[in-house]
Amino acid sequence: MVQKAVLVTGGAGYIGSHTVIELLNAGREVVIYDNLDNSSYEAVRRIEKITGKAPIFYKADILDKKALLEVFGRHAIDSVIHFAGLKAVGESTQIPLDYYYNNITGTIILLQAMKESNVKNIVFSSSATVYGEPPVIPIPETSPTDAKSPYGRTKLFVEHIIRDLCTAEKDWNAGLLRYFNPAGAHPSGILGENPTGIPNNLMPFLAQVAVGKREFLSVFGDDYPTRDGTCIRDYIHVVDLAKGHLAALKKLEENPGCVEYNLGTGVGSTVLEMIHAFDKAVGRELPYKIVARRAGDVPNLTADPTLANKELGWKAELSLDDACNSLWNWQSNNPQGLEGFPADAPKEAVINYL
Ligand code: NAD
Ligand code: UFG
Repeated sequence: MVQKAVLVTGGAGYIGSHTVIELLNAGREVVIYDNLDNSSYEAVRRIEKITGKAPIFYKADILDKKALLEVFGRHAIDSVIHFAGLKAVGESTQIPLDYYYNNITGTIILLQAMKESNVKNIVFSSSATVYGEPPVIPIPETSPTDAKSPYGRTKLFVEHIIRDLCTAEKDWNAGLLRYFNPAGAHPSGILGENPTGIPNNLMPFLAQVAVGKREFLSVFGDDYPTRDGTCIRDYIHVVDLAKGHLAALKKLEENPGCVEYNLGTGVGSTVLEMIHAFDKAVGRELPYKIVARRAGDVPNLTADPTLANKELGWKAELSLDDACNSLWNWQSNNPQGLEGFPADAPKEAVINYL
């Protein structure tokens, strides 16, 4: 069977770019589709530097159905990995309509364009936030879902939409991947997370403290019912996470219908444990202060990854030290991230009918 190309929406972003590297290394043809809203074209150049292969790239929006149809028409695509979306939990409480429009309407438009182009395999970036405050740790996929923020609800609603589609039309296959907390960077030190403004997430914030861009880390609460009072999360190396997408694509070849999997390590770490792990990578103690809890945080989100281990033949293999060392390698080599490099795509890569 001749393998066709994979369309990767959001492929210039943090998890998307690392997944594109794994796809190219596995010999897959890749078409990136990203509006560069939260990313830089420099990430695409760096993907080429790392793999020696240039992915096809379009600067275009998933809300732009005509652009999507044009791209599906230009390339022989048989599956989509759908990363494109807005992802800041806090911001989603301020501008919920933008989140619902981009993440839900955008996904519906993508699914319509896929249907019209007869492309019916999709891997979707869901999130551990769909579990809300789970009753059992580690969390199995059967745990009740109850997202606590507009962002989390966009993920949950999209899961329902895709599941309903697969129920109604049996020729669709979908892998809903519930990521736990991605961390780390590409081992080359050339590519990593490139947050704009003040980072919302723990690890990129810590990395900016380490290069002197921020004075100290604020630890949000030390009175949670955990071993040291700070929240527990399941930090998964972004390269392991990327590989989970290749395993999911392979699974879709078995025509499973709609399947959902946790992508996590099964091991939880507290905020203080993460600070100490990153201190070790950096070689000194980083300053932090305990402050009030952050609204919306839950004490513990740790995956039960057994189902993905069993059905996808996938397992997280890299350690927390690997994640911390790669993050430090990336941040110390690129203290300003991708800032200062030309961020926009070449004119010929732009499609815009909006
Ligand atoms: P990211 O912001 O780095 O990447 C998302 C990419 O999508 C960006 O390059 C952005 O420009 C693009 N994009 C956004 N809206 C678009 C649109 N309308 N049309 C075209 N492109 C658009 O984020 P990430 O951390 O790589 O996350 C990827 C996906 O995984 C997101 O859907 C996110 O919600 C989900 N996720 C992330 C995490 C995390 O902690 N990073 C955890 C769970 C789930
Ligand atoms: N934290 C701090 N200080 C900071 C940032 C975070 O103490 O400056 C703490 C948080 O309170 C939390 C932990 O570090 O206890 C992890 O917080 P992150 O913001 O890094 O990650 P979240 O678990 O809140 O959310 C992330 C993504 C979501 C995704 C979820 C999956 O932002 O998109 O992981 O578990 F859905």
